[in-house]
Amino acid sequence: MNLLFKNISEQEIKADALILPLFEGSDNIYSDINKATGGLISDVIKSKEFTGKLNQTTLLHVKGINSNRILLIGLGKQSDITPDRIRQAGGKAFSYLRGTGSKNAALSCRIFSKLPKNFAASQMPAFYFIEGGLLSLYRFERYKKSENGKEIKTAIILGADKGISIKWLKTTVSAVNFAKDLINTPSNDMTPAILSRIAKSISGKKIKVKVLEKKDMEKEGMEAYLSVSKGSAEPPKFIILEYKGGKGALLALVGKSITFDSGGISLKPAEGMEKMKYDMSGGAAVLAVIKAASELNLPLNIVGLLPATENLPGGSASKPGDIVKAITGKTIEIINTDAEGRLVLADAIGYAIKYYKPKAVINIATLTGACSIALGSEAAALMGNNEGLMEKLKKASEDTYERVWQMPLYEEYKEYIKSDVADIKNSGGRNGSLVTAGYFLKEFAGDTPWAHLDIAGTAWSDKDKPYTPKGATAMGVRLVLNFLKEIK
Ligand code: BES
Ligand code: MN
Ligand code: ZN
Repeated sequence: MNLLFKNISEQEIKADALILPLFEGSDNIYSDINKATGGLISDVIKSKEFTGKLNQTTLLHVKGINSNRILLIGLGKQSDITPDRIRQAGGKAFSYLRGTGSKNAALSCRIFSKLPKNFAASQMPAFYFIEGGLLSLYRFERYKKSENGKEIKTAIILGADKGISIKWLKTTVSAVNFAKDLINTPSNDMTPAILSRIAKSISGKKIKVKVLEKKDMEKEGMEAYLSVSKGSAEPPKFIILEYKGGKGALLALVGKSITFDSGGISLKPAEGMEKMKYDMSGGAAVLAVIKAASELNLPLNIVGLLPATENLPGGSASKPGDIVKAITGKTIEIINTDAEGRLVLADAIGYAIKYYKPKAVINIATLTGACSIALGSEAAALMGNNEGLMEKLKKASEDTYERVWQMPLYEEYKEYIKSDVADIKNSGGRNGSLVTAGYFLKEFAGDTPWAHLDIAGTAWSDKDKPYTPKGATAMGVRLVLNFLKEIK
């Protein structure tokens, strides 16, 4: 979608629809437009058909101004306003208008000057509205015979504050859409090999991509990772991206990249198993972040690590009771082959620290079902060994509203994953399984500052939300980019 910023009046602009955001129960600030259109706006407000409730929409066909339609969109009560409510209203407004077949839309920013001056100092309210709008228009139509042709081609923003970073907006939204496409693609078209080719396609002057094959990993002693791929005919691909953006710190981003998780010999129930194509959401987020970091010229260095493999049962698959040795030398007893994420991540984290000595490691993974049980789809679980790093992630998440909630990694959890026959085991049973998974990873991070985001509950949405269509959500992409923006 094209964004045009103009400084002409709402009455003059000629668009398929003019969007007028309104607060609930406060004065109609569009009296001039109301008058020009014969009082239609005050009529729907008087009749209580439109109250300004958050995300409420009313479409008016009008005469007297240059646009043929006005879309009233509710922002809720002025006293309750937040950046995310503005983002939601933007999502609702733009997706609604696309449904009506509008090809272009004009947004009045008049109401945003009514917000308190200190509101979201870092960004402008119009930014959130447009961001929500752009995000809401994502669709995944690769496998549909007839594409839904409806599309809003242009948005005209009237009277927005200067200083909105269009580059940031467009790049981060494209990164989100890029990640969503990867995640929504079914596993037959998103194998480790295909994912590695996509990673290579984003290589360039600042991004170098290398892919470790099975034999390379055997040499490195990455048995934990390799044990997961043994049941599959698809070869594993350990995808490593190096982004060099300047003299700043080197950070490692590790993304769980299980292109399909059947559970392996500890097979999952059939119901809902089709969703397990989204078990590479962490890896997709890392790819998208690195792509965007390069487009935005972020002045830091990142290494992205995607341990990609399928997790399938088969004649040569790993079996419960097997013991494997990770790159760090630790032996792991595999209690449950469905706890595969931590196995591939243990080796990826170990590799990152051994070869890159990063200042910090951030891990993004659809790691546990217990994460959804604890937090639903409202927040990712945050764990780590470094409070400063976790505070920075929390701060970054406030702005993007990809919320995180910190969970404890008490040393007592070590007991839960103690094995009788190996150094550690990959499952501590049901109790505390969200945090014991985190604790398992911590054992491979050692002294390196490390944080882990469990996005199992947030990476997929079963229903349409105001600016997030159902399916892959690309959870973490905007959050990590916002975090990187502040890193020196
Ligand atoms: N990929 C799953 C976690 C998951 C479950 C993500 C549901 C999204 C939705 C992970 O590999 C897994 O199977 N975890 C097990 C671990 C258990 C066997 C210790 C789980 O959480 O049930
Ligand atoms: Mn699993
Ligand atoms: Zn998994």
